[in-house]
Amino acid sequence: QELTEGSITVSAPSNIALVKYWGKKQHQIPANPSISFTLSHCKTVTTLAFAKKTQSDSFSFDLLFEGKPKEDFKPKIQKFFERIETYMPFLKNYHFTIDTKNTFPHSSGIASSASGMAALSVALMHVEKQLDPEMDDGHFYQKASFLARLGSGSACRSVKGSVVIWGNHADFSESSDFYGVAFPFEIHPNFKNYQDTILLVDKGKKEVSSTVGHDLMHGHPFAAQRFLQAHDNLHRLCAVMQNGNLTDFVSIVESEALTLHAMMMTSMPYFILMKPNTLEIINHIWKFRKETGIPVCFTLDAGANVHVLYPENVSVEVLAFIKSNLVGYCENGQYICDAIGHGAELI
Ligand code: PMV
Repeated sequence: QELTEGSITVSAPSNIALVKYWGKKQHQIPANPSISFTLSHCKTVTTLAFAKKTQSDSFSFDLLFEGKPKEDFKPKIQKFFERIETYMPFLKNYHFTIDTKNTFPHSSGIASSASGMAALSVALMHVEKQLDPEMDDGHFYQKASFLARLGSGSACRSVKGSVVIWGNHADFSESSDFYGVAFPFEIHPNFKNYQDTILLVDKGKKEVSSTVGHDLMHGHPFAAQRFLQAHDNLHRLCAVMQNGNLTDFVSIVESEALTLHAMMMTSMPYFILMKPNTLEIINHIWKFRKETGIPVCFTLDAGANVHVLYPENVSVEVLAFIKSNLVGYCENGQYICDAIGHGAELI
């Protein structure tokens, strides 16, 4: 198929891991399997314009952020293109203009790498599909997730599905270290429209990047045990997603969040990404849960912000609690109300 120019706009959401990916092997292969909720409102929207060039000896692209030139991500995209070139031989034949915007606030401390890399990968797959219109959906999404993984590991969980597994695991015959797959069994109605309110505790740039953090799992004294635990927690969570047991959900998810940060604190060099307000919030959540019996819990990414997870049917009570007890611990009182979503979309 001859394709001279065109433009594609896609959105891809962020995701929040329930069982965490922390530690990787070469070529973005995870040291353990992980599972996440896809989000709905925290998204990246990317417009990819492409035009055929006469020479095809190097990559050629312009990067824009909200329509304005943005040079600082160029090396990251250059590296991404180098990594995926063998799988997308047409890359050097086109000049690309990549214009990106995020639906979440600027420098909110919410990483845009998962949503950003997923959006770009899905957009590139749409170009490939225009070159090969016969391509089926299964191949399209699997390859999009595969490419996203090469951009940023957890991005492969932002392409398709509400609950996504990445990494080989005995309970899921279709699972893979190379791409994310949607949870293959029926999900209990308790998780329908599950809520994630993200409390922005610290909007600054992280002191230690996740790349460095993953690396420190090599030679980490607890690594082998941690990787086994992740398999076990994913096995237990697989049952919970089907039986809807929220008591078990809370204990697995909170334990995973604290273990992630325990790995950071026991790395060499050690580091701490939580802030005093992170701990204040955690203690308030525990107290509220004990007093009310409402199954609200927290999880953490590689940062100080707190994700508050709860079923939709207790939203009114939990939001009132958040407003009266937790918002004071957020930077400028900022938080984002999100909920479980479905993945990337063509716009
Ligand atoms: O995708 P990366 O390399 O930025 O790693 C993300 C790791 C965590 O967010 C901490 C956990 C996860 O599974 O998403």
